[in-house]
Amino acid sequence: MADADKIKEAKNFYLDVPVESKPFFLRGANSLGWGLQNRFSRIFNAESGRTVMLAIDHGYFMGPTTGLERVDVNIVPILSYCDALMLTRGILRTTIPSSYGRGVVLRVSGGPSILKELSNEQIAVDIEDAIRLNVSAMAVQVFIGGEYETQSIHNMTRLIDIGNRYGIPVFAVTAVGKDMKRDAQYFRLACRMCAELGAHFVKTYYVPGFETVAASSPVPLVMAGGTKLPELDALRMAHNAINDGAAGVDMGRNIFQSDAPIAMLQAIRKVVHELMKPEHALELYETLKNEAG
Ligand code: R5P
Repeated sequence: MADADKIKEAKNFYLDVPVESKPFFLRGANSLGWGLQNRFSRIFNAESGRTVMLAIDHGYFMGPTTGLERVDVNIVPILSYCDALMLTRGILRTTIPSSYGRGVVLRVSGGPSILKELSNEQIAVDIEDAIRLNVSAMAVQVFIGGEYETQSIHNMTRLIDIGNRYGIPVFAVTAVGKDMKRDAQYFRLACRMCAELGAHFVKTYYVPGFETVAASSPVPLVMAGGTKLPELDALRMAHNAINDGAAGVDMGRNIFQSDAPIAMLQAIRKVVHELMKPEHALELYETLKNEAG
């Protein structure tokens, strides 16, 4: 090197400061590689260990549902209030500004519409495209007990192998068929199967007995929203889920179909990250809604 003789001799090695080795903050993620952990950190807040994800991927099987007719008008202005966004590559590429710096959870399974058998999904995105889009995780629907149960499990395990290879976590989304009973016994089975087969985190519904679903899952569980509820009920559901061991929420219609989506997101954030009581969170929602006019 031209200036080799100007290099200062290293001298401060802080010999009295031990090198720290901190465990990673998420359940079951301690032995994951740096890339997987770093991507997880774009989705989950390291301080609370939780996330508020906004799900807007509904169009991939149900078309432009209420509240998502115009993602540019309805969703882009509220992006800064969530920790991560769950969506399809079509909406990500066309409508979400590339300056968006938070977590992107990409829907990577698909196929059937609401007019057909929903469990007949296949992997719908190539890993190269997921990498090109710099996603933080890949979401795949898993239909335990559904007609195409094994096919959906194979979609998931294939994606987990690919995700582990490239450092991208896989988010298993437990889908419940119309005729199936939504109870803790079912979700214990579904969530545990996803985790045992390698999913890095799992999306599941809140049901009474959720604490047993969470306790028996070795990976983080994120609560699904479901159809639109009155705001207080949605806040109660989120509070119960967090109290019972969920690592966050991934809600769609209860946010973008609310009269005041930004106020609702802010109220949900308080519940998820600070365990604010639902009644107080509702007061916050009403205040913010009124302030916004
Ligand atoms: C769930 O299976 C799909 O990913 C949905 O499109 C979405 O996540 C559902 O969100 P929500 O039920 O909270 O509207």
